Amino acid sequence: MRDMKMGEQHVPGALKALFAAALAAACLHAETGYDAWLRYQPAESAALVRSRAALPAVVTALNEADPEAAARAELIRGLRGLVGRTLRAEDGISRESAIVLGTLEQLGRAAPQWRLQASLPEDGYWLKTVADHGARYLVVAAPNPRGVLYGAFALLRKVALGEAFDALDERVAPYAPIRWVNQWDNLDGSIERGYGGRSIFWEDNHVRADLTRVADYGRLLASIGINGCSINNVNANPRLLAPEMIPQIARIAAAFRPWGVRVALAVDFSSPKILGGLDTFDPLDSRVAAWWKGKADELYAAIPDLAGFVLKADSEGRAGPSTYGRTHADAANVVARALAPHGGILFYRGFVYDHHMDWRNPKNDRARAAYDNFHALDGQFDSNAVIQIKNGPIDFQVREPASPLFAALEKTNQAIELQITPEYMGQARHTVFLAPMWKETLDFDMHAHGASTPVKALAAGKVFHRPTGGFAGVANVGLDENWFGNHLSQANLYAFGRLSWNPDLSSRQIVDEWTRLTFGPDPKVDDTVAAIQLSSWRTYENYTGPLGLQTLTDITGNHYGVNVEASERNGWGQWHRADEKGVGMDRTTASGTGYIGQYPPAVARTWESVATCPDDLLLFLHHVPYTHVLHDGKTVIQYLYDSHYAGVETVAAYVRQWKALGGLVDERRYREVLAQLEYQSGQAVVWRDAVTEWFRHTSGIADARGRVGRYPGRYEAEAMLLDGYQVRDVAPAEDASGGKAVACPAAECSATLNFPGAAGWYSVRVQYFDQRNGVSRYRLLVAGQAIDEWPAGLLLPTTTLDSTSSTRRVIRGVALRPGDKIRIEGRPDGGEPAALDYIEIVPEEQ
Ligand code: GCU
Repeated sequence: MRDMKMGEQHVPGALKALFAAALAAACLHAETGYDAWLRYQPAESAALVRSRAALPAVVTALNEADPEAAARAELIRGLRGLVGRTLRAEDGISRESAIVLGTLEQLGRAAPQWRLQASLPEDGYWLKTVADHGARYLVVAAPNPRGVLYGAFALLRKVALGEAFDALDERVAPYAPIRWVNQWDNLDGSIERGYGGRSIFWEDNHVRADLTRVADYGRLLASIGINGCSINNVNANPRLLAPEMIPQIARIAAAFRPWGVRVALAVDFSSPKILGGLDTFDPLDSRVAAWWKGKADELYAAIPDLAGFVLKADSEGRAGPSTYGRTHADAANVVARALAPHGGILFYRGFVYDHHMDWRNPKNDRARAAYDNFHALDGQFDSNAVIQIKNGPIDFQVREPASPLFAALEKTNQAIELQITPEYMGQARHTVFLAPMWKETLDFDMHAHGASTPVKALAAGKVFHRPTGGFAGVANVGLDENWFGNHLSQANLYAFGRLSWNPDLSSRQIVDEWTRLTFGPDPKVDDTVAAIQLSSWRTYENYTGPLGLQTLTDITGNHYGVNVEASERNGWGQWHRADEKGVGMDRTTASGTGYIGQYPPAVARTWESVATCPDDLLLFLHHVPYTHVLHDGKTVIQYLYDSHYAGVETVAAYVRQWKALGGLVDERRYREVLAQLEYQSGQAVVWRDAVTEWFRHTSGIADARGRVGRYPGRYEAEAMLLDGYQVRDVAPAEDASGGKAVACPAAECSATLNFPGAAGWYSVRVQYFDQRNGVSRYRLLVAGQAIDEWPAGLLLPTTTLDSTSSTRRVIRGVALRPGDKIRIEGRPDGGEPAALDYIEIVPEEQ
C-alpha cells in the first residue's frame, strides 16, 4: 500500500492510522456502555488540577484480603483513569501521605494516635483527613470490610464528580441493612422479564464456565452499596438445590465475594418432595423441617456467607402451604429456621393472589390480596423472615398506590420490592427512568397510627423497630454489552442502589450524578439527559395508562404492546372496568371492594372521596363516568385523549433534544440511544392511536380537539394500489390504523399511492410490522427512484400482526411532486409477511 502525505511530511500508513486513532480517542473515547457509571474518564482540567494537588502517592490497605484489597485495586484503577496518576499499593501505614483503607478495629491497632472511633452500622463508612507528623492521610474507615469498599467507591465518586476531597470528615450510614437485587434467571440461561440478553450466571442448566461478567456485575453493585443478589428466578426450579449444583453456585459466590455481594437463592417450596424424595412438603411435618435444615447445612458448608433464600409460594401456580391447609407463617418459618443457625435470611414474597378470580363479582379485588393474606399473620414470622412486598398492590404497573401491607405489619420484618427491569415499562425499548416513581412510593406517608410513617421508614424497619428490613430490586441484567439493552436504562439500577442506600436523595440528585458519571461533564449533555430521564415516567404514563388505569398492555401476553381489553373478563384481576358509561375500579369502602379501608384512616379518608382523591390515582380507586371533571378541570375522557397526544409530542421532542448532542456524546452510544428514542417515538404513536380509538369507540365521546380518528397525511395500505398484498384484519382492531393491514403471501409484493399533495419537501413515515419470526425487507421508491431500504430485524416479542410488531420507519427530506408514485415493496422472510399498516406524508418544517 502506498504511504500517504500529510502536509509536506511523508507519513507512513501505519503511523497515520495511529494518529487517527489517537485523535479519535482524544475527542471521544469509543464506549460500549459496559463500564456503565464506572468509566473513570479523565476529569475536566480544573478538577484535575485540584485532585492532583490533593492526592497522595500511596494507597494502603490494612488488610490484604478482599474486599479491602479489591477496594485498594479499585482506587488505583479509578484514580489512574480520572486523575492520570498510578498510586503505589502498600499494606502498612507509611510515613508519607497516603490513602489508608481499614476497619475501625484495624486502624485502632495500626494508628491508635488517630483516635478513630465511631459508632457506625455495618456497611457504613467514614472518610476522614488526618494530619500526623507532617503527613496527611485520607482515611477510609468502616466497622466492617465491606464498608471500607463502599467508602472507597464513595471517594472515587467524589473525584469523578469533581468534588473537593482534601479536608474530609464524613460519616455515612446506609438507611437499611438489606439492599439486595434479585435476578430472575432460569437455569437454561434465559431470563424471565430480562431485556439485556441471556444470563450472566447460567447456561444449559449449569453455571457458566466464564464468570467474568459476574465479577464485573459485583463491582457495579458494590459501587452503589448493594450487598446481596439472588441468582435465579423466583419461579424456582427445584433442581437448583440438587447436590451437583452446590459447587457450581459456590463459584458464583466466589466471583461476587471480593465485592461484598452475597449470593441468595430462590427456592421452590415443594423441593423436599420433588428433590428430596419425601412424600410431602407440609411445613409442619418434621421430616420436611429436617430436609430444609439438612439442605441449608449442606449449602453453608460450601458457601459460608450465603445470604439466604427467596420464596414465592402459593402464587401464580407455585406450590405453597395451602396444599396442606397451612399458613404463610408456617411456610416461612420452616425454611427460616433452617437458615437461622447460619445467619441466613428468608425473603417470603408478599406477591400472593388468586389468579382465577370471578370477574363478574364487583367485590372481588386482586389489590386486596397482599393485605388479606398477610396482615392477620403479623407477629407469627420468625425474626430472620422478611416479607418482600411489591411497591404497589398489583404488579409493577405504570402507576399504583403504595401497598397497604407496608402499614399493616408491625411485628414482622418487611422489605420493599421494586422492579428495575422494565417489564411493564417498555422493556428497555422505551426510556423510562423509575426513580421518580419509586420516590413517590418511598416518600408516601402511610400515617400508621396517625404518625408520620413514610413507606421507606416502614420498609427499613425503623417505624416498628424491627431487627432488619430494606430494599429488593428485580434487576435482570444480562450478557448484552450494556447490561440492560438500553444505555439509558442503566440509570434505574444506579438509582435503585442509591435510593436503597439513601432514600432521601432526590431523583434530580441521582440523575445528575448518574449522567455525569455515565456521559461526562458536558453541561449540555447533562442537562439534556437529566431532563429526558426525569420526565420519562410521566411521559410513558401519558401514552400508556394515565389516571391510575395501569399499563393498558397485553397483561395475559407479552406485557409490552397495547391491549386495552386484555385485563377484562378474566381471572387475573387487573380490571379497569371500562365500558360505554364509565371507567375505573370502585375500591371504596362505601360501594366498592373495600380496598381503601385497608389503609390507615388518614389515607383512607383522602382516597374514599372523589373530591379529595388525587387525579393520578382516580381510576385505580374509583369508577366514574367519562364526563367526570378532574381537579385539573378536564373531563376524564378529554384527559385520556390529551395525555396520549402530549406523551407522543414529548417523545418526539426527546429525539430532537438527543440529536442536538451529536458530537458531544461518543459515537456508538449516541447512535444507539438515538435509535432507541426514534423507535420509542414511533411506538408512542401506536399506543396513542390504539388507546384513544378504543376509548372513543367505547365511550362514543369525540375528542374536543378533533384529533382522535383524524390523521392528516395518513394513507391506509389497504386503500393503496396493491400488487400481491392481501388485506388482513388485525386483532384487537385498534392495534392497526383502520383495524386492517396488508400482508404479502408471495415472494414479493408492493403497495403504490399516487401522491395527491402539493410539491414540496416531506417526511414519509412507513408503519409496518416487524415480527420476531423473520427479517422481511422493505424498499421505498418515489417516481421509480429507490430512496430507502431497510430490514425488519428487531426482536420484538411477537410473531403476529399487532401493536407490538407495529413499527415506524421515518424517511426525511423527500421531494414530492403531485402525482408521484410512492411505492413500497415488501419481501417476506420466514413467518413474517412484510406487512404494512399505512404511510403518512407530512410536510417538513423549514
Ligand atoms: C409478574 C411477572 C412474572 C413474575 C411475577 C413475580 O407477574 O410477570 O413473570 O414471575 O411478577 O413477581 O413473581
